[in-house]
Formats: sequence, structure tokens, C-alpha cells
Amino acid sequence: MSPPQARPNFVVERVQPVDLDQIVELIHDSFSQEESALIGCPDPSYYPNYRERILEVMESDPCDIWIQVKDVEKGKIAAVSNWRVFMNGKPDDRGDEPVAYYTGEDREDSERSARFMNENRRKVMTGPFVYLQLCNTSPDYRHMGAGSLMMQWGVDLADALFLPGWIEASVEGTGLYKAFGFYLQGGRAPWVAHCAHEERFQVQRDRWGRVEEEEGVIR
Ligand SMILES: CC(C)(COP(=O)(O)OP(=O)(O)OC[C@H]1O[C@@H](n2cnc3c(N)ncnc32)[C@H](O)[C@@H]1OP(=O)(O)O)[C@@H](O)C(=O)NCCC(=O)NCCS
Repeated sequence: MSPPQARPNFVVERVQPVDLDQIVELIHDSFSQEESALIGCPDPSYYPNYRERILEVMESDPCDIWIQVKDVEKGKIAAVSNWRVFMNGKPDDRGDEPVAYYTGEDREDSERSARFMNENRRKVMTGPFVYLQLCNTSPDYRHMGAGSLMMQWGVDLADALFLPGWIEASVEGTGLYKAFGFYLQGGRAPWVAHCAHEERFQVQRDRWGRVEEEEGVIR
């Protein structure tokens, strides 16, 4: 058994455009090949395109917030998450957009995936809510609490605004999300039947942090 590692000195902060080069690499390295292709970054040659894709939304969508966890001593970004906050009325949600720089079959796959994601999201996520779009911890920093720090930030924000939370969770993320009061809603995400992407689950957290333990809860 390897000796326990000391937890780095972490700080949570807003992502700035200058952080994006590191973040793009972190996201790519922390996802599977399939997930990386889905978000628009199948290999390192796509880093500049993917960086622009993030930046465009960051600079133009008022609902979009990126936060990161930094290892203070090393100055390295350990984890990153992308949140969307829909404060009033019907969600002002641009939705997932197809990857503009993909062509041919990749582009068609991307359009199909965005369509199914958006149709489904709009059916179930109807009022104002806080939404977690992406949550990634670098493989070098897993199980050190970085994901939890970002989740705490997100649920504190949701509770302060009296809003429920939604996530389309990967299998890998469900343990973390459940620890913060999210529970399975509606079963396996329906677009999985249409796209060959990894299994995903819709998970919801009630406003006020009220957790309803019910059948189908993530275990
Ligand atoms: C999911 C992810 C963000 C977790 O990040 P992390 O920084 O390692 O999370 P934490 O250290 O804060 O974990 C806190 C606790 O959450 C729970 N947890 C975290 N990951 C878990 C998992 N895969 N399964 C079950 N529980 C998990 C555990 O209680 C964990 O404590 P432990 O480390 O003692 O086991 C990270 O594994 C990751 O980036 N995965 C790949 C990308 C991905 O799938 N992201 C989710 C997309 S929806």
C-alpha cells in the first residue's frame, strides 16, 4: 500500500482567458477518447480550436461561469468546472452547440448529439436552475478533494440563489455528485440510445439542498 499523500494547498478561483491553455490540456487528459471527441478536442492538434470554442462562450454568454482549483505551491491548475446559471423564467440556455470545426461524419455526429442533449434538457429542466456542464480533475490530482471544492462552490451558489441543480453525469462523476445531494432523475439519459457515447445519467439536486432519497437514487 502506498503512503498517504499530503493534500496540496488548493485555492478556488474564476478562470481567466490566460488559464485556458492549461485547462484545455487538463480537460483532454481527464476524459476518455470518446468524451474528448464529443466536446471537440479529440487530440492535441485540436487544442487551439477547443480553446476558442470555450473562450467564445465565456465571453458572450452571461450565464457561463468557469472556476478552477489551483495548487498554490506548484501554480498548476488541478481541476476545472463549467457552470451555467439560469436565474429567471425559462432558461436562457443556448444549449450544446455542434462543434463548428468538425466536418463530415464527425460534424453529423456532433449535430445529432447536441440535438438530443438539448431536446432532452429542455423537456426536464424547465425553470431557473444551476447547471454543471463540465467537471474535470487532472489525473495527477484525483481523490485529493479538488472536485469536492468545486461542487461545494456550486451547491453554495445554488443554495444562495434558492435554485435547484442539474447535471448530466458520467458514471465516474456520480459518486461525487451524490455526496453533494444530487440524485438520479429520469434514469439513463435518453440520448445514449441514439449516440454511442458513454453512459450518462441526469441527476438533480433540489433547491435548499433538500435531498429526497427515493427509488432510483444513485448508489
Ligand atoms: C469525477 C472527478 C471530477 C472527481 O474529481 P476528484 O477531484 O477526484 O474528486 P474528489 O477528490 O473531491 O472526490 C471526493 C469524493 O467524491 C467521491 N468520489 C469521487 N469520485 C468518485 C467516483 N469515481 N466514484 C465514487 N465516488 C467518487 C468519493 O467519496 C471521493 O472521495 P475519495 O477520493 O476518498 O474516494 C474526476 O474523477 C474526473 O475528472 N473524472 C473524469 C472526468 C469526468 O468524468 N467528469 C465528470 C463529468 S460529468
